[in-house]
Amino acid sequence: MNSKEIKDTTNNYVMNTYGRYDLVIDHAHGSVVYDKDGNEYIDTVAGIAVNNIGHTHPKVAEVIKQQAEKMIHVSNLYYTQEQADYARRLVEKSPHDKVFFANSGAEANEAAIKLARKYTHKGEIISMIDSFHGRTLTTITATGQPKYQKGFEPLPAGFKHVEYNNIKQVEDAITDQTAAVLVEPIQGESGVRVPDEDYLPKLRQLCDEKGILLIFDEVQTGFGRTGKFFASEITGVVPDITTSAKAIAGGIPMGAMLASDKVASAFKPGDHASTFGGTALACSVASCVLDIFEEEELVKKSHENGIYFREKLNALKEKHSCIKDVRGHGLMNGVEVDADCSEFVAEAQKRGVLINVANGNVIRLVPPLNITREQLDKVVDVIDEILP
Ligand SMILES: Cc1ncc(COP(=O)(O)O)c(C=O)c1O
Repeated sequence: MNSKEIKDTTNNYVMNTYGRYDLVIDHAHGSVVYDKDGNEYIDTVAGIAVNNIGHTHPKVAEVIKQQAEKMIHVSNLYYTQEQADYARRLVEKSPHDKVFFANSGAEANEAAIKLARKYTHKGEIISMIDSFHGRTLTTITATGQPKYQKGFEPLPAGFKHVEYNNIKQVEDAITDQTAAVLVEPIQGESGVRVPDEDYLPKLRQLCDEKGILLIFDEVQTGFGRTGKFFASEITGVVPDITTSAKAIAGGIPMGAMLASDKVASAFKPGDHASTFGGTALACSVASCVLDIFEEEELVKKSHENGIYFREKLNALKEKHSCIKDVRGHGLMNGVEVDADCSEFVAEAQKRGVLINVANGNVIRLVPPLNITREQLDKVVDVIDEILP
């Protein structure tokens, strides 16, 4: 099929839930994707913070081949070495003791909400305005953006939303029925919003005082994205539950929900399950992703190249008065502009760079963590060219 045929066939046969950009991607390597005509694009979208190790990493390709020949999937009724190995490694990377494997961020958050309710015997979850936690009925309800909920009522009960970065509002929302506070350490979908330094520590203190659980949704911020392995390490706050997905298995669907032994003990056999949760294939690829993180020092690269990138983006502020803010941690960055962003994505694409606009006015830049400085320079040059 040529590009037009691919677009037409997709539009004819796939439900119309995505506003797609006008690009057919044919293949991808490292931080570069290629269209059907062989044109190259530096990818700062990276599957929306999924391809942290870059596209088609040769080690991942090799592991997928080997594992596919050995065993792809058996039921969680049985034990596998792949799951045992990876569970130990992921838990050791986290501040937690136990993991539940899912297939996506939304499912990891669903599992966290179920665990919090089962552990506390309480129903209310407080989450944040402008948050994003997924597209299942429960996670759109936790998501503090009415546009994702409209038309899907009735929504599950027990959710309240308060302003992000506002401790007082959380305090006022807590009742004797509150089970947990669910929060992104940095809000992603609403435009890379970084809270004040004392916000998460104060949230931890408040949850401790009130005896409620603190859940960090690290689906987007996890796996080195913010220059730490988990973003919780930026402030040193240890949540009771962490959820993860996106970059965890290099693009193979996987999610995880991690908790302390004490909290995790509320789940008994039969309380929660997922057919595909923690397959041998996903776990062996996820283990390989951890190897790549270590060998290529990706957390360090994210931190150091993030500083380099933000310096260059900040320098653009001098030239473009439409830039209101440059913010982020590691290689999770946003450039907030006071300008019409509608043409930016297409203009950057014409110049060989894929970008994404979050919340209407923030250019969100979440490239692979092994992107080179030369590639980052090109991204900055293109942003310089397209901004008024
Ligand atoms: C913070 C956060 N939580 C949850 C999700 C949902 O993840 P998934 O699309 O894998 O269900 C996303 C996706 O963008 C996210 O950014």
